[in-house]
Amino acid sequence: MMSKQTRQVSQEQIAHQWDCINQIQHLLSVRADAPHFYCQTFGCQQNEADTERIAGMLREMGYEPTDDPKNANVIVVNTCAVREHAEKRVLGIMGQYTHLKEENDDLTICMCGCMVQQEHMAEKIKKSYPRVDIVFGTHALWRFPELLLRRLSGSKRIFDISGDDRGEISEGLPVLRGQGCHAWLSIMYGCNNFCTYCIVPYVRGRERSRKPEDIEREFRELIAEGYKDITLLGQNVNSYGKDLGLGVDFADLLARLDKVPGEYRIRFMTSHPKDASDKLFETMANGTHISHQLHLPFQSGSDEILKRMNRHYDAAHYRSLIQSAREKMPDLVLSSDIIVGFPGETEEDFQKTLEMVRFGQYDILYTFLYSKRSGTPAAEMPDSATKEEKQDRFDRLLAEQETINAARQEAYQDRIVRVLIDGTSNSKQPTDHPLTGRTDGGLLVMCRGDGLKLGEFADVRIERTSLRALYGVEVGNG
Ligand code: SAH
Ligand code: SF4
Ligand code: F3S
Repeated sequence: MMSKQTRQVSQEQIAHQWDCINQIQHLLSVRADAPHFYCQTFGCQQNEADTERIAGMLREMGYEPTDDPKNANVIVVNTCAVREHAEKRVLGIMGQYTHLKEENDDLTICMCGCMVQQEHMAEKIKKSYPRVDIVFGTHALWRFPELLLRRLSGSKRIFDISGDDRGEISEGLPVLRGQGCHAWLSIMYGCNNFCTYCIVPYVRGRERSRKPEDIEREFRELIAEGYKDITLLGQNVNSYGKDLGLGVDFADLLARLDKVPGEYRIRFMTSHPKDASDKLFETMANGTHISHQLHLPFQSGSDEILKRMNRHYDAAHYRSLIQSAREKMPDLVLSSDIIVGFPGETEEDFQKTLEMVRFGQYDILYTFLYSKRSGTPAAEMPDSATKEEKQDRFDRLLAEQETINAARQEAYQDRIVRVLIDGTSNSKQPTDHPLTGRTDGGLLVMCRGDGLKLGEFADVRIERTSLRALYGVEVGNG
C-alpha cells in the first residue's frame, strides 16, 4: 500500500543544512581567491533540476560557478542509470576528473544521483575510484551541505545512499537556475509504476508530490523573476497529488497555476498513458498559458509487450488518448518514447510499433535500444532477437520517423507562429537566422528580424523548414 501522507524533511533538519552552509561560508572566507564549483549532469530533466539545487547550495556557501573543471575546487557529477551507456559515460568522465587531483589537492570530487543510489555502483566507486570524496544518492540530496562540511572538516570519504524508498520532500533550500527564460519546476519525485525494464523506481523511490501551495509559491517567484517558459517535472505527472489526499489532481494543479497573471508558457513532462485523462486535455485546451505540447511515451505498439512491460494500457487505449487530445487541440505537438528490442520482442510486435508511429504522427520521437538493468524484472526475461536484428529494427524505426518528421515540419511552411526568443544560434557557419525561438508546442525555430529580442515573444513567418528546425522571419520584416 502507498503511504497516505508524504513526509517532509523537518524544519530543524533544513535549518541544520543552512547552518552547515554558513559554516562552509565561514571556512571559505579566509581564502584569498574565490573558490569555484563545476557541475556536470547526466540523464533527464529531473536530474538537471536536482543539479540546480546543488548549485544553489554551493553558491550560498560562497563558491562561484565555472565552466572549466580545471578551475574548480568542488566538482559534482550528477549521474544517471537509465541505460548502460549512461553509466559507462559517467565512469569514463570520473577517470578524467580524478586525474585533476594530481595537480590540485584542493579539489573535492562528489558523485550523486541515480547511478550511485544503486548499492553495487556505490561499492564500485568505493573500490575503484579512491579519489572520489563524497558519494550521495537521490534521497540524500538535501543533506549535501552537511556532507560537504564533514569532508572539508577532515572526515574520511563519505558514502551516503541511505534513505528509505518512500523518500521525503525538502522545501526551503536554495536553487541556482540557468540563465535565460526557461525554468524547470519539480512538482513531484519518484515513481510507483515499476515498468519492468526501468531502474527509476529503484533509484528514486516512491511517488511523492510537493504541496500545491509550495509549487504555486515557487511558480510565482519564477514569473516575478522573469522566467517565461516553465516546465513542470515529474516521472509521471498525471498521478500528481494521489499521495497528498487533498483531492487535487494534476489537471487541478495546472488550472491553478494557469491563473497566475503574466505572459509565459507552462509545459510538463512526463505523462503516463495509463493516467492521462480527458480532463487533462480539456484543461490544456482551455488554458491561457498551457502549451499544447504532450510527451506521451507508448514504448511499444504491441499489447503483448506492453503487458510484459507492466504498462497498464493497451494500444487501443493509447490511440483513443491521442485521438481525444488532437480533437481538443488540433495544433498539438506530440512526442513519445519507444524502446526497441525489449526481451522477446518479435518482428510482428515491432511491426505494431511501426503502425503506432504512423498513427501517432509524432513531431519528435525518442527511440532507445533496450538496455538490461540489473535488479529489474525484464533483466530475467528470456530474449530471442539478436543484436543485429534489434539494430535493424531500430534503423527502420528511425527511417519511418524521418519521413513523418519531414512532412510535419514542412506543414509549417508559410505559417505564422508565436515564438519565445530564447537564445542565439550556436552554428559555426555564418547564419542569417542568428536567434533561436520555441513555438508554443516547443518546436525549435531559427529566427531573424531586427525587432526580435531575447526573452520576448514575437510572431514569425516560417520561410523554410528542415528536419532539425524551422526557419522564421519576424512578421513585418521581409
Ligand atoms: N517516467 C518517464 C520516463 C523515464 S525514463 C516515462 O515513464 O515516460 C525515459 C525513457 O527511457 C523511458 O520512457 C524509456 O523509453 C527509456 N528507458 C527506460 N528504461 C530503459 C531501458 N532499460 N532500456 C532502454 N530504454 C529505457
Ligand atoms: Fe520508469 Fe515506467 Fe516510472 Fe517512467 S513510469 S520512470 S518508465 S517505471
Ligand atoms: Fe536517469 Fe535518474 Fe533521470 S536514471 S533518466 S537521471 S530519473
